[in-house]
Amino acid sequence: MLLLGIETSCDETAAAIVRDDRAVLSSIVASQVDIHAQWGGIVPEAAARMHVERVNPVIQQALDTAGIGFDGIDAVAVTHRPGLVGALVVGMAAAKAISFARKIPLVGVNHLAGHFYSPFLSAEPRFPCIALIVSGGHTELVYSKAPEKFQLIGQTLDDAAGEAFDKTARLLGLGYPGGAALSELAKQGDSTQIKLPRAKLSTPFDFSFSGLKTAVLRYVQSAPKGFSKPDLCAALEMAIAEPLVSRTMAGAETYGVGTVTVSGGVSANRTLRSLMASACEQNGFELLMPEPHYCTDNAAMIALAGWYRLQTHGPDDFDLDAYAYGDWSS
Ligand code: KG4
Ligand code: ZN
Repeated sequence: MLLLGIETSCDETAAAIVRDDRAVLSSIVASQVDIHAQWGGIVPEAAARMHVERVNPVIQQALDTAGIGFDGIDAVAVTHRPGLVGALVVGMAAAKAISFARKIPLVGVNHLAGHFYSPFLSAEPRFPCIALIVSGGHTELVYSKAPEKFQLIGQTLDDAAGEAFDKTARLLGLGYPGGAALSELAKQGDSTQIKLPRAKLSTPFDFSFSGLKTAVLRYVQSAPKGFSKPDLCAALEMAIAEPLVSRTMAGAETYGVGTVTVSGGVSANRTLRSLMASACEQNGFELLMPEPHYCTDNAAMIALAGWYRLQTHGPDDFDLDAYAYGDWSS
């Protein structure tokens, strides 16, 4: 079975062909990041218009790369929540048209479930597991007993981890979205030189990062001229990664799982990956993380999530709708 995955929830227009044995035949991502960078953030109307221009060529490229035509696809999976509604509907219109014309199943995918399954594009899926999903808009800790069985056990109470990276990067003039650039600069820094706070929370699996951005702003405003940007970046990386790792470990222990997964754009972060790997090794958990190109938004993860959803819930109707918000309920 070959699935076409389509993703247009934010600022990436993506299409992919994935086989039911999880082999990725093609994964095309057309990023709009350079265009939104001039405004310092995503402009929803501009994102939607660019998806309109790009969605068909990107789908065609995914088919060409996989060496198949529309007649080679057996089902279409498309992100329908959460995301920018004007952006989501573009991918959904394309998916519905293909499903209707080809008379093949249509399946709506939760973008976060896409991130959840992304480590399984390159490793054997394992359940039960604890999944940390860290992206620009979300920071969630999920317990999953089996495919499509999700229980949200913790989340950020304010900013997402990616937001904390991006806001600091902006403050330091590193562009938008600055997570990767900040991490690059952090390589030359010493994380012990600048003290940044860790949030004290009364719940065991939640996160909070909004205090960090205030602390960084205060530091920048009061620090002597010529302070070390690399040291500040390195300190920020640790201040974000440490609670992510310790609370994920606590979740894995409490829920008695053998496997931990980390996914979403921030899972590309070098420091988070290495701290998580050491903690899992020390505590005896298997760790699965996506390959770097499947950390950020892509459609291969949407196709795989669509396959699981088809097995458990069957196809959706053409009245499938777009939603700005999405939770883990089915
Ligand atoms: O998953 P994603 O592509 O989009 C959302 O669904 O939000 O995640 C994008 C986020 C951005 O905040 C970006 O700065 C962050 O992932 N990011 C990183 C790195 N690469 C991307 N953050 C830290 N270190 C990185 N290497
Ligand atoms: Zn995402």
